[in-house]
Amino acid sequence: MSGRARHTHPPARFSVLKREGFCFIIAVGIGSTRNLAARSWASTLPAVSKPMKTLLSLTVNGRPRDDAISGNLLLVDYLREGLGLTGTKIGCDGGECGLCTVLVDGAPQHSCLTLAGSCEGKEIETIEGLTEGGRLNAIQRGFHEKLGAQCGYCTPGMVMAAEGLLRRNPDPDEATIRTEMASNICRCTGYVKIIEAVQMAAADLASPSEAA
Ligand code: FES
Ligand code: FES
Repeated sequence: MSGRARHTHPPARFSVLKREGFCFIIAVGIGSTRNLAARSWASTLPAVSKPMKTLLSLTVNGRPRDDAISGNLLLVDYLREGLGLTGTKIGCDGGECGLCTVLVDGAPQHSCLTLAGSCEGKEIETIEGLTEGGRLNAIQRGFHEKLGAQCGYCTPGMVMAAEGLLRRNPDPDEATIRTEMASNICRCTGYVKIIEAVQMAAADLASPSEAA
């Protein structure tokens, strides 16, 4: 064994240990620094909280309901995804097209702009609730007879808007029908048939014995 070996081996092991220890210390140090950095970075983020659930009590198509909902749930999503009432459609999702129209306490309302939570204690009516004893009601018959629907996508919103109109004003003239239903858009029919459908429904309601 050479003198070089005798004198260099222990220092070499020592230097390895020192190096490993140094690396360990560096690694621990980096880890701690990262943890501290992560903690301080995380502390700058807004707290992520789960949406609060509230109890909603209301009536949908004549049936009382109590449901736990999140505070930011829209009425259209509550109806379609929560209750499976997919007759209410979604188009613009921003109050422009009227496809999502339902009745809230008898008045047409865009369910895409309505928080479900704001309907506490109210009565909601959707297209699924309009049939009378399994038969089309007067407005649905009007749309059927007068060919007021083509693709049909706007029709549930149109029918609900017309239902709200005729409950408020059973004998509207054409100008009133056009004005009251102006926020319901149809991309197919050109509106003439829709107006005729509403007029036929008004006539049927005025003379129920002659209705189909
Ligand atoms: S989807 Fe509600 S107004 Fe268009
Ligand atoms: S019937 Fe197609 S959008 Fe109105």
